Formats: sequence, structure tokens, C-alpha cells
Amino acid sequence: MKNIGVIGAGTMGIGIAQVAAQNWNQVVLIDTNQEVLDKAKAQLEKTLFKLVEKQKLTEADSSKIASLIEFTTNYDSLKNADLVIEAIVENISVKHSVFSQIESIVSTSCILASNTSSLSIASISSVLKNPERMLGIHFFNPAPLMALVEIIPGVQTTEEVTIAAKSIIDSWKKKTVLVKDTPGFIVNRVARPFYGEALRIYEEGIADFATIDWAMTHFGGFKMGPFTLMDYIGNDINYTVTESVFEAFYFDPRFKPSFTQKRHKEAGLLGRKTGKGYYDYQENAIAISPKEDVQLGEKIFNRILAMLINEAYDALFMQVASREDIDTAMKFGVNYPKGLLEWADEIGVDNVLSTLTDLFEEYGEDRYRPNPLLKRKVRELQLGN
Ligand code: NAI
Repeated sequence: MKNIGVIGAGTMGIGIAQVAAQNWNQVVLIDTNQEVLDKAKAQLEKTLFKLVEKQKLTEADSSKIASLIEFTTNYDSLKNADLVIEAIVENISVKHSVFSQIESIVSTSCILASNTSSLSIASISSVLKNPERMLGIHFFNPAPLMALVEIIPGVQTTEEVTIAAKSIIDSWKKKTVLVKDTPGFIVNRVARPFYGEALRIYEEGIADFATIDWAMTHFGGFKMGPFTLMDYIGNDINYTVTESVFEAFYFDPRFKPSFTQKRHKEAGLLGRKTGKGYYDYQENAIAISPKEDVQLGEKIFNRILAMLINEAYDALFMQVASREDIDTAMKFGVNYPKGLLEWADEIGVDNVLSTLTDLFEEYGEDRYRPNPLLKRKVRELQLGN
């Protein structure tokens, strides 16, 4: 049993605390707002009750799990922590002051982690006296249900700290992948074309939302099409992630945000949570049918998949993560039906390259440039034959 501290009892913090307690760790969940803590406690009790109802937990285990979490506003409760995971607001100056405060309380052997999605580990750890003990531990929402956790050592993190943190999260029955401290880590980087290229296809007038969604679910086996998924995530959140990745990559056109999504965000058409996004979720709304044209559907699917594979190749080329981890991340972080690199092998890397080369020639835009590693792989295969 370890002592785990979780800072921030919002969407992510409460989920992470639940995962830690379900794996029999002693947990301290801290928030500055008592009301948030009370809500988090009530929410956790409700979740545990549902798990008992579904016979996924015994009543005895459920009460034991609930008793393992201390909900408090007092940072001093962290003094025996072995690992502290911060999940507060995505703001560098607030994170800096929280990490300085935590470091003044915990022991020197305590590992410090941030659940940040878009800030670098290097920038967060810069305020620490001992930045070697800090890394990123990035859970996905909802944390108890999503299997993937990205483990992100910063430039100063020691190997011992990375190994120890990874083994704790592995023991929580999560699938961990190791990733360099680069914008979007694996998932939020590699997944960008799923949204961006779908929006681009729509903006060019090639197909409407429903047809693009149909193409990706029908031919690709994705659980949700891009527009349904963006409506589910929220156009505000999804747009902000794209914008932050675009800026962090020094405005590389591969990640360029879309006016269509920006306008939807500005208009308050955020998706499910506002009742309207690309689709209408209000009562009596009329469902829009896709145009089930096989040739068009395949063209859309091949284009988006080729862009996704190109991005996965880029992550591999730039040594952001291993081949296996890039595929694991997309299967377990965003539930893709297959890993993108294995998918490329299955359909033929030469086919992927030819789709990208055609797009690059047609548009002349840097966005469509095929990755050098993909080109190399095709060349090697051709030489081998
Ligand atoms: P949230 O807004 O739901 O919760 C943040 C909580 O932190 C709030 O309850 C707030 O009262 C508390 N807080 C603020 N300042 C504090 C302080 N100084 N000390 C203690 N508590 C404090 O935020 P959410 O969505 O849970 O995100 C948290 C972090 O996780 C962010 O860094 C975000 O980028 C990251 N993340 C979010 C995901 C998501 O889907 N929401 C997915 C993966 C990562």
C-alpha cells in the first residue's frame, strides 16, 4: 500500500483518486474549494454504489475503498505521500505555486507528477528544488474507465523516478506508455488529423458531417465519427487542444485549426452539452442521414486514415515514443480499432504513401508532406522485393 496524494478534486482528480483507492492505496484528495470536495465525495459514493449494484464490487470492498480516501483542503496531509499527482486548472503560474507548496511538505523521496495535457513537464518542474523527481502522468477522461496512461519524463527526470512511477501506475492495472515531453504527447498529437482532416473535407464541400462520420465508422470501424466525437468532447475543449498543439509546434500547417470549428465554438454550438453542435441533440430533432456513396466514403476514409498514419510515423520518426507504445496509445487512449502503424502495414505503406503524395501534389500544401520514415519504409520494401 502506498500513500498517494491527488491535488484538485475536479473531473480528473476524483477519477484518479478512485483508481488509486480501488487498487488499495491510501489516498489524500486535496482541493482549495470545500464545496468541490463535498461534491466529489458524494459523486464517489454514488459511483461506488453503482459498481456494487452492477456486482462489479462487493459492499465490503466499496466501503473499504471509500474509507481509503481523505477529502481535505489541508496540504499538510501530504507529508507521508510516496507519489503526488496534480490535476488542477491548466495554468502554469497556479501549477508553479502548488508544486512549490507541495515540495515544502513532502519527503525528498516523494515522486511529484502532473496530469497536464498541454503544458511541458520541463516548464512545470522549473520551480522545484529537485526537478529530477518530477514527471508527467497523463490519465484520460474518465480515468477509472480509460486504460491508457502516458508517462512523461521531463528533461531533468531521473530514470529511477520514471521506472518507479511507471511501476506504480502499472500496478493500478493501467496500460502505460512512455513518451517524450513534446506537445500533445502521443494521443493529443497523433489524433489531430481525425478532427482536422474531417473538418477540411467538410470545408471543401466534399461531404457533409453525417457522410464523413459514416465513412469513418463504416469503412474504418471507429466507434464514433469525427463530428459525433467532437460534439461529445465539446467543440470548445477540442478546438483549444488543436490550437495549443498548433502553437506549440510553431504553427506547423499540419495542425492548423479550422474556422468551422472556431465558429461553432464562438456560437456556443459546443455539442452534446449545449444541445447543439454539428448535430442537433434536442428533443424532436430530425436525424440527418449520410449519403452512403461507397466510392466517396472510401475516399474520405483513406484520406483521413493516411493523415493519421503520417502523424503516427512522425511521432516515431521524431522518437517521441516506441512503435508499440504509439499503437497502444491510440487503441487505449482514444479507442481506435487498430494501432495506426500496424494498420499501415495491413493496408500497405505504399498505398498510404501514394494517398499522401496525391494530396501533396494536388494541394501543394506542407500539411500533406509525407513523413521521411514512411518514404524510407516504402523504399526499403521495394528494394527487398
Ligand atoms: P477541473 O476544472 O474539473 O478541476 C480542477 C480542480 O482543481 C477544481 O476543482 C479546482 O477547485 C481545483 N483547484 C484549483 N486550484 C487549486 C489549488 N491551488 N489547490 C487545489 N485544488 C485546486 O479540471 P480537470 O478537467 O480535472 O483538469 C485538471 C488537469 O487535468 C488539467 O491540467 C488538465 O489539462 C488535465 N486533463 C484534463 C482532462 C479532461 O478531459 N478534463 C484529460 C486529461 C488531463
